[in-house]
Amino acid sequence: MSRRFEFVPRDTKKIETKNRRIVTKIPVPESSEIIEELRKYEPLSMSGQPLVVWDRAEGFNVYDKFGNKWIDFSSGVVVANAGHCNPKVKNAIIEQAEHGLLFNYCFPSEIRGKLVKKLSDISPEPLKKVFLLSTGSEATECAIKLARKYGQKVGGKKKIKIITFDDAFHGRTLGAIQAGGSKKAKEWIVNLDPDINQVPYPNSFKYSWADVNDPTYSDDKCFNKILSSLQKQNIEPEHIAGIMSETFQGAWMELMTPGVTRKLREFCDKFNIVLIFDEVQAGFGRTGKLFGFEHYNIVPDNLLC
Ligand SMILES: Cc1ncc(COP(=O)(O)O)c(C=O)c1O
Repeated sequence: MSRRFEFVPRDTKKIETKNRRIVTKIPVPESSEIIEELRKYEPLSMSGQPLVVWDRAEGFNVYDKFGNKWIDFSSGVVVANAGHCNPKVKNAIIEQAEHGLLFNYCFPSEIRGKLVKKLSDISPEPLKKVFLLSTGSEATECAIKLARKYGQKVGGKKKIKIITFDDAFHGRTLGAIQAGGSKKAKEWIVNLDPDINQVPYPNSFKYSWADVNDPTYSDDKCFNKILSSLQKQNIEPEHIAGIMSETFQGAWMELMTPGVTRKLREFCDKFNIVLIFDEVQAGFGRTGKLFGFEHYNIVPDNLLC
């Protein structure tokens, strides 16, 4: 459960640099009404952040209405990867609003046609079909569904297992949260899907067997940790429909080692398993390449971006 910051305005050192300006008490006394309204009408989970009331944001700067200016190190949970209010993004939104079409669900439109073609053109084979959804969680749910449908088609009723990684995050809806790697986050579900299972993520902060700088490290040894976890859970590779991973785990800011990822690709090819990369946090340039998977020289079967 989120903890709330207490609303106690404090005298703060005045700051005036290129990217930061603090000229008031923090939190700003005049902002108490806004905070009170939010706390009155929203659930507790929405009130865990510092009491800075965002008014506008540009590039990596956030401004309040009271003359203060901060650097947004969160980048809106990596959403503002092109910068807040990037003029190209802003103008495209304005242009579309002025054009006079804000919604057309699954009915055809020229603009949607242009977008899906563009996304397909910039993606390598086999990532050529595009399905536009509103949130990352929906993309996760859809990926689970597609993998299970494919699994059953090619391998029968038992090929339904979805394998994901400890500490992974794939969203907050029912399937997405079960695909996530936090046991605590799913306690409330009680009746967990027995066919969504986790294996350890090769995380060098946690495990020496995953640390490429450890003298005893090898890709085989590292990948075997994943295989032995499957064995311990009595999971037959033939029953796996899909394996899903973030290309870097947001929780640790760590990329999987390329050798292990290539072994994962080989394993999925061998057992006709859909390899799903969740790049809701990594995609579109946020790891320095257009897609995170380009760091590994492999391509997934399904990409969530
Ligand atoms: C890797 C990853 N997958 C899925 C999601 C869920 O996306 P959304 O919050 O849009 O449902 C997130 C959100 O932070 C994410 O980081």
